[in-house]
Amino acid sequence: MNSGNEPKNRPETLAARALGWIDPATGAVSPPVQPSTTYARGPDYKLLTPHIYARPESAAYDQPEALLARLENGAAAALFASGMAATTAVFQALSPGDHVICQEDIYFNLPKWLREWARPWGLGVSFVPTGNLEAIRKAVQPNQTRLVWIETPANPTWTVTDIAAAAEIAHHAGALLAVDSTAASPVLTRPIELGADLAMHSATKYLNGHSDVLAGALVTARDDAFWQRIKTNRAMMGGVLGTFESWLLLRGMRTLHLRVRQQSQSALAIARHFQNHPKLAGVNYPGLENDPGHEVAKRQMQGGFGGMLSLRVKGGAAAALAFVSRLQLFVRATSLGGVESLIEHRGSIEGPDSPTPQDLLRAVAASLSPQWPPVADAHGSPPPDH
Ligand SMILES: Cc1ncc(COP(=O)(O)O)c(C=O)c1O
Repeated sequence: MNSGNEPKNRPETLAARALGWIDPATGAVSPPVQPSTTYARGPDYKLLTPHIYARPESAAYDQPEALLARLENGAAAALFASGMAATTAVFQALSPGDHVICQEDIYFNLPKWLREWARPWGLGVSFVPTGNLEAIRKAVQPNQTRLVWIETPANPTWTVTDIAAAAEIAHHAGALLAVDSTAASPVLTRPIELGADLAMHSATKYLNGHSDVLAGALVTARDDAFWQRIKTNRAMMGGVLGTFESWLLLRGMRTLHLRVRQQSQSALAIARHFQNHPKLAGVNYPGLENDPGHEVAKRQMQGGFGGMLSLRVKGGAAAALAFVSRLQLFVRATSLGGVESLIEHRGSIEGPDSPTPQDLLRAVAASLSPQWPPVADAHGSPPPDH
C-alpha cells in the first residue's frame, strides 16, 4: 500500500501526507476504503501479499498502523476495536499468577475491569496513587511484577507521572512499562522515546479527532514475543476494528497536529482565565505554573500541555451541575479529543464508587476562538461560555 517514497521530515508532514501514499493505479492522494475480508493467492497457491484474512490482519490497517508507529517512534502498531480492547489485550497477554501495578485514579474503566475480571482470572493487581513514583517503587515485586500501567496526564485529574522514572523502576524489577498516552497524543509526548515499552491510545479521542469512530491502538518499542502474543490475541479473540473505521481514523490523523496544538492553546487560555476565580476551588491543568505536575510536564510534553482541564467548583456536585446547566457552547457530554468543546460532571458517569471529587467538571477545550477570553458584560462578569 505504501509508495515507498516517505518524506523523511517532520511528524506533522508525515501525518498530513499519510506517509506520502499515492495510489499507483490512479494517482489518488487519498487511500481507498478497503473492505475486503479475504485476499487472493496465485496459481502456485502462494499469497500475493502478506494478507490472508481480515480478522488476523486487515490490509485496511496497514497505513494507519504504519503512520502511528512512525509518530510514536515505535517498532510497530496495532489497531483495536476500542481503547479498552487495546488495553485489555495487553493484560490478557500475561499469564494467571503474574503481578501488575496500575495507577488507581485514571480512566475509571481499567481499574474496574482489573478488579472485576483480571483478578478473578488470576492476575495479582496492586493499585497505586496516580503520579506517585515512590508508591510504584514500593509496590513492585521483583521477578513477579510483569507490567506497570500508567496514564499521563491522567483522566480526569490530569495528574502527571514521570514516564522516564517509571520506566526505570519497572525495568529494574524486570517489568514492562505501558503508558496510556491518550490525553497527550504523539504530538505532545512519545512514551517510547522516554523508555516505555508500550504506548496505548483510545484512538476514539485525539487520533481520530471527530467524535465519530470508536477505536484503540497499541504501539510497541520492540517487535518481540510479548508483542506477537498481543497480536495473536487480537487475531484469535476477533473483536477487531472495522475497515471503514480504520479509514476514518487515518483521515483524522492527518490533521492531528493542527488540532492538538490549537486545543492545547485553548485549554491553557481557559485554565489561566479561571485559575483564581472566586467561585472555583481550583483548576487542574499541567500547563499552569503552580500545578504539581508542571515541572515534569514541561520535560515530557512538547508544544503544549493538552486540551483537557478540570474545574473544581465551590459548593460540590450541586454547584457544579448548576454551572454546566448554564453553558451555551460547551456540549454536556462525555468523551474528549473531538472538535467540539465538551463538559462533563465526571462523578455522574463514574458512579458511586468513583474516586473523582464530586465538585469536578472535566472540560474539553476545542472550538475556542482566538478572541477568547470574551469582553466582560455591563455587570463586569464574563459570559459563562465562549
Ligand atoms: C484516557 C482513556 N483511556 C482509555 C479510554 C477507553 O477508550 P475507548 O472508549 O475507546 O474504549 C478512555 C475513554 O474515555 C480514556 O479517556
